[in-house]
Amino acid sequence: MKYGYFDDRNREYVITNPRTPWPWINYLGNEDFFSLISNTAGGYSFYKDAKFRRLTRYRYNNVPMDCGGKYFYIKDNDTIWSPGWKPCKTELDQYECRHGMNYTILKGVKEEVTAEVLYFVPLKTWAEIQKLTLTNNSSHPKQLKLFSFVEWCLWNAASDMENFQRNFSTGEVEIEGSVIYHKTEYKERRDHYSYYSVNTPVQGFDTDRETFFGLYNGFEEPQVVSEGMPRFSEAHGWSPIASHYLEVELQPGESKDFIFVLGYVENHAEEKWESKNIINKDKAKETIARFDTSVKVDTALAELRQYWDNLLGVFTVDSGDDKLDRMVNIWNQYQCMITFCFSRSASYFESGIGRGMGFRDSNQDLIGFVHQIPERARERIIDIASTQFPDGGCYHQYQPLTKRGNNEVGGGFNDDPLWLILGTTCYIKETADFGILDELVPFDNNPAIARSLFHHLTVSFDHVVNNLGPHGLPLIGRADWNDCLNLNCFSNDPNESFQTTENKTEGSKAESVMIAGLFVVYGREYVALCRKIGKSQEADRAQTQIDLMVESIKNNGWDGEWFIRAYDFYGAKVGSKENEEAKIFIESQGWCTMAGIGQQEGQCIKALDSVKQLLDCEHGIVLNHPAFTKYYVEYGEISTYPAGYKENAGIFCHNNPWIVIGETEAGNGNRAWDYYRKICPSYLESISDLHKTEPYVYAQMIAGKDAFRPGEAKNSWLTGTASWNFYAVTQYILGIRPDYDGLIIDPCIPQDWKSFKVSRQFRGATYQVTVDNPHGRMKGVKKIVVDGKTVLSNLIPLFMDGKSHDVMVVL
Ligand code: BGC
Repeated sequence: MKYGYFDDRNREYVITNPRTPWPWINYLGNEDFFSLISNTAGGYSFYKDAKFRRLTRYRYNNVPMDCGGKYFYIKDNDTIWSPGWKPCKTELDQYECRHGMNYTILKGVKEEVTAEVLYFVPLKTWAEIQKLTLTNNSSHPKQLKLFSFVEWCLWNAASDMENFQRNFSTGEVEIEGSVIYHKTEYKERRDHYSYYSVNTPVQGFDTDRETFFGLYNGFEEPQVVSEGMPRFSEAHGWSPIASHYLEVELQPGESKDFIFVLGYVENHAEEKWESKNIINKDKAKETIARFDTSVKVDTALAELRQYWDNLLGVFTVDSGDDKLDRMVNIWNQYQCMITFCFSRSASYFESGIGRGMGFRDSNQDLIGFVHQIPERARERIIDIASTQFPDGGCYHQYQPLTKRGNNEVGGGFNDDPLWLILGTTCYIKETADFGILDELVPFDNNPAIARSLFHHLTVSFDHVVNNLGPHGLPLIGRADWNDCLNLNCFSNDPNESFQTTENKTEGSKAESVMIAGLFVVYGREYVALCRKIGKSQEADRAQTQIDLMVESIKNNGWDGEWFIRAYDFYGAKVGSKENEEAKIFIESQGWCTMAGIGQQEGQCIKALDSVKQLLDCEHGIVLNHPAFTKYYVEYGEISTYPAGYKENAGIFCHNNPWIVIGETEAGNGNRAWDYYRKICPSYLESISDLHKTEPYVYAQMIAGKDAFRPGEAKNSWLTGTASWNFYAVTQYILGIRPDYDGLIIDPCIPQDWKSFKVSRQFRGATYQVTVDNPHGRMKGVKKIVVDGKTVLSNLIPLFMDGKSHDVMVVL
């Protein structure tokens, strides 16, 4: 069953039934100020950091689902309703939610009144705009009462949910005209406040939550709204809110716009106050004035649209398959921007409190984003590298507000350093900005021990070389990419974190074949980079280590039909036919086949065939097989999940594209495409009831074949799946791949594709690529003609002339 449809022309997903199987959300903002918004107006806002600078409250894991948001209540005589259906849940005559590129429009129609709310964060603005349009479609005048509502969070989203003995006494607000200011803790250590305004005089307000709702009422029935009268309450402690009250008279056919601004301000210490206890409101007023008419708001929205036109203009495909085109041209790229902004911190599955930005995650998120805004990718690379240690190890996460490594989580994830090579080389291939390698980048955020970014890459490479185990394979440390394979944890204490506890370390023999494959792939990238910048001795040194690793994998990482996954603490095989459960894992098959290990010996093909045979199912490729059915203390968290979920034989979508790429390396376009399509959300729209999460974005996990409900997805939005799938489909299936000296064209497609077109802006020129496949091939470029001239290699040269160039390719 479907709950809406794609409107590709407007780049929107249009939800027509508010009762989606799970809240289907969108993100507003793309730089500093952000909001999450669901299809029924749930969600919250924050400045940069969802933990430390939370503006509004949200209730997690609540009944009913998705409580707390940016709500409007309309009282039309005795009928009380909300434009987004919730929170009132009054049946609407018509409902529509349009999620677009960083904006959402909710529309409700009730008793001949239409209420449409446009929500967005204008570019370079620390505020969310809500433009509410009320229209009277009836033939008689309407007297409506309108109440707005947001609930302030006391800034730190974690202590806001915990420290009630303090919180209930600290809340402070100021009200001036139509603006409600939230200034809790401003008089002491904070230099920021937030505000909520409307561009017209109000007839009343409320700022104390209990007064507004009545202590025992829910969001759906505020006492003040039922009574149709505001109480002009001023919050002192307890829970401050902001609600405007407006009396609206509409003649037949008349429309009125109301512009609400929910904003954030920072003031310098000397400029904090206007007078004693009265905050300096200048910056808030400036922002409010920038958006005080509909024309100004519409202009800001047009700028936002233009911004997305530009971003999405860099890579477009015309394949003739709408489902593919809308993912590649719109939604997958959009999701890449969102994951770039948030890593794994704030979604409807990530509370924004638990996790900062991941070292490995952020590097991988880069690869789907770097073509959009390379300058931001550059800054991110430097930020990430700054949390590395001099020996190449690194903090596993850092906080976006402080950009410092997160001590509570620590380090010791031995795959982490290698991803910096991926992020950096992808960035340079896109931009040719080799200068980034000379940037001085601190270790452990300490400028006194800064070295060049290139040096950071060297220590990243060497961190593996310096931490090898008995089989010549990389020691795994706390875990590798699979956070839940905790081979040194040995936990029997439910209060311990699997990921940060190592109860056994001395004498560990736990090695990772996945890191080994990863090392070969990104070690080679490191070598290529060294050669490119004339460091041939370093390249030779590195190559020797890579060759040794390839041998170690062939000798100690091969199980006969597939690559084993790891060696455990004691040196026993993990992911081998010798094991009772989890005989085969996806990760090592992905990385070793991408690395082409044992290509001549037929190991790659065998490994890929084993994936097809043992891991593939109707909904995608599961992580391991058979699923663990009991807890293995020597494996850790992976064996705690019920069979078929998450890292225990779930379809962990992030790693499916590794196999897709492995298949394209092997030339099997049919299979690569089949795998791509299985987890691609636009192809799953018609099974939304089962799939549950948004049909426009990837989910981290789809329940696997051993699960209770195979095919059910969880953890949508913030997942490395977004960047990896974009990377896999554009660079390996469509095969348009940036390289240091040009654009490589090397598609690997299903046999029955006749042709497709790609437009790619790259280093100051636009490449209009047409690929024809008259002989039903899967891979292998036979002929390339650029601007009418045949070229002999599939590396298309750089033009850098601001012009458009025709590239005709025949397979
Ligand atoms: C984490 C990743 C990790 C993956 C697999 C995700 O939730 O953010 O860092 O690689 O899970 O365990």
